[in-house]
Amino acid sequence: MATLDLRQQFPILNRMVKGKPLVYFDNAATAQKPQRVIDALTHYYTHYNANIHRGIHTLAEEATAAYEAARHTAQEFIGAAAPEEIIFTRGTTEGINLVAYTWGRQNVGAGDEIIISGMEHHSNIVPWQILCEEKGAILKVIPVNDNGELAMDVYRSLLSNKTKLVSVVHVSNSLGTVNPVKEIIDAAHRAGARVLLDGAQSAVHMDIDVQAINCDFFAFSGHKVYGPTGVGVLYGKKELLESMPVFQGGGEMIKEVTFEKTIYNDLPYKYEAGTPNIADTIALKAALDFISETGKQQIRDHENELLAYATAQLQAIPGLTIIGNAKEKVSLVSFIIKDIHPQDVGVLLDNQGIAVRTGHHCTQPLMARFGIPGTIRASFALYNQKEEIDALVTSLHKTIKMLL
Ligand code: ALA
Repeated sequence: MATLDLRQQFPILNRMVKGKPLVYFDNAATAQKPQRVIDALTHYYTHYNANIHRGIHTLAEEATAAYEAARHTAQEFIGAAAPEEIIFTRGTTEGINLVAYTWGRQNVGAGDEIIISGMEHHSNIVPWQILCEEKGAILKVIPVNDNGELAMDVYRSLLSNKTKLVSVVHVSNSLGTVNPVKEIIDAAHRAGARVLLDGAQSAVHMDIDVQAINCDFFAFSGHKVYGPTGVGVLYGKKELLESMPVFQGGGEMIKEVTFEKTIYNDLPYKYEAGTPNIADTIALKAALDFISETGKQQIRDHENELLAYATAQLQAIPGLTIIGNAKEKVSLVSFIIKDIHPQDVGVLLDNQGIAVRTGHHCTQPLMARFGIPGTIRASFALYNQKEEIDALVTSLHKTIKMLL
């Protein structure tokens, strides 16, 4: 893993930043793209660019076949039972909003409760706040302990027959915590609630089997799984997607329109109004194939090694505190250094060619929980190497000398 051969599939990794070789540790924000994903995009635009589902000419047929092949690949990638359960979206945020605006409006009423957690991304907070405000429903929050894990005993006590939905992040983008989603889902189902998983960070690191974990909805983004931006997947159980009202109107989501009435299309097209993001969806297939061929277990093993190595190296730096020490983590380390502002560290690391994310990572309530404005976050991908972590540690020593 992280062999030269694998790294060479990512052309961007050859570039220099501020005169230094790029060390890309901002993978939780977006992952870099292998050549085959870039090629899939240019191949589509060069050879068979056409609108899908509606043309009878050769190009339209080729584009439709490639788009639908991507749906099958996404289905297999997360273990869904049927391709109709795969809705292409713009990303995780749109997937969550789709559920809030459709299933939420249909099923959540005054006095009902929605449970989220204290480590949610804003994208899994705000849509539910909007819904609760509109419906007079109540948002409840599972607290986070000092290690950055969910307080599961409190979670169980929050569940009741008023709970309509539990919407939680599978893997925290700020802390790396892997949440015990099977336990969360089983408990929610016993209470009669549905469960949505925000899989934005988990889909790239973990084997996802939506049937085995039995979630009702699962959303993830293409650009975090080595695919393009602007495309994502929402999985929903077929019976739920069938019973939900439509989201946006127009284009592919209709069967028949008169001025009196519209008959909506079948799944999955019912939720894919307008010309979809054809090129990026086709390139997403290339990204998912790349992950499957590389092997999720090998990726996980390599990333776990990086995580253990980085944790040990960073912990040894005087004044550095790691935020998020859950037993189960993906390859991501968030940290602060004394009272140095994370942004100052980020700028100085960038001067050394090292890309990290700094700030609240779109999880302001979680930062408030830890009493900090933000963290410095180094998040690793399959192409990262221990030597790059060494470069980070060396640069951090220099940075601390300059700032303290
Ligand atoms: N949610 C993305 C991140 O954590 C953008 O950086």
